[in-house]
Amino acid sequence: MLVVRDLVAGYGDIPIVRGVSLEARKDEITSIIGPNGAGKSTLLKAVFNLIKPKGGRVLIDGVDVTGLPPHKLVSLGVSFLMQRRTIFPELTVEENLEMALWKMRRNLTNRRERLERVYELFPAIARLRGRPAYLLSGGEQRQVELARVFLQEPKIVLVDEPTVGLSPKAAYGIYEMLTMMKGEVAVLMVDQNIRYASQFSDKLYVMVNGVITMEGSGETLSSSLKEIVKSWLRYT
Ligand SMILES: Nc1ncnc2c1ncn2[C@@H]1O[C@H](COP(=O)(O)OP(=O)(O)OP(=O)(O)O)[C@@H](O)[C@H]1O
Ligand SMILES: [Mg+2]
Repeated sequence: MLVVRDLVAGYGDIPIVRGVSLEARKDEITSIIGPNGAGKSTLLKAVFNLIKPKGGRVLIDGVDVTGLPPHKLVSLGVSFLMQRRTIFPELTVEENLEMALWKMRRNLTNRRERLERVYELFPAIARLRGRPAYLLSGGEQRQVELARVFLQEPKIVLVDEPTVGLSPKAAYGIYEMLTMMKGEVAVLMVDQNIRYASQFSDKLYVMVNGVITMEGSGETLSSSLKEIVKSWLRYT
């Protein structure tokens, strides 16, 4: 489980994240929604220490990991899927997935087992395995990126805007994948597509102006999304 306590972070002297506390558990998709510029991406970056937090704590399964460099966090089981595309277009889907298994290059059986498990869990990826990635749609590419993250067997997956620029159908595919993954990892996601994201989220946090203004189950908050979005207009 990921616990963030009173996290403060920003750029230079400008405070952006101003004391955020939240939790993300295994078996759940936890989402942060909020207006543009609220500090959602900054929060994820501070958790992953791409920006050094100025205050507060980040804990993984009760262990304080605040300020550990990203590669250490990766080895402790944290993965960050950024908005920027990271697929290798000239490689096939399977070759792209194998990139995630580089660390296990001496253990061929285990590698094969892990790949087979991903194909079993995500049949859509299995069907595409031999295809060069440049031939995939944007949504399919994003799915391959998610599968690659999952292959690394993380405990916690941070996802920033997984569905931006995708059709509703493709976005649905991404949320379905995250739903499959949550049985094994804690998912902490930021998404613009708030209506969809809230439907697939077990827990929702609303972030405005660098602070959490509301939290609740996806179910509870999804019924008041209109009012929530209206309240953002006061800040923008
Ligand atoms: N490298 C940077 N240097 C200075 N200010 C930055 C930097 N990156 C972001 N900001 C500012 O920090 C604030 C929060 O940005 P952030 O990207 O965290 O917002 P966000 O909630 O993710 O918004 P969006 O929904 O548009 O992605 C914004 O006002 C932004 O202009
Ligand atoms: Mg953002």
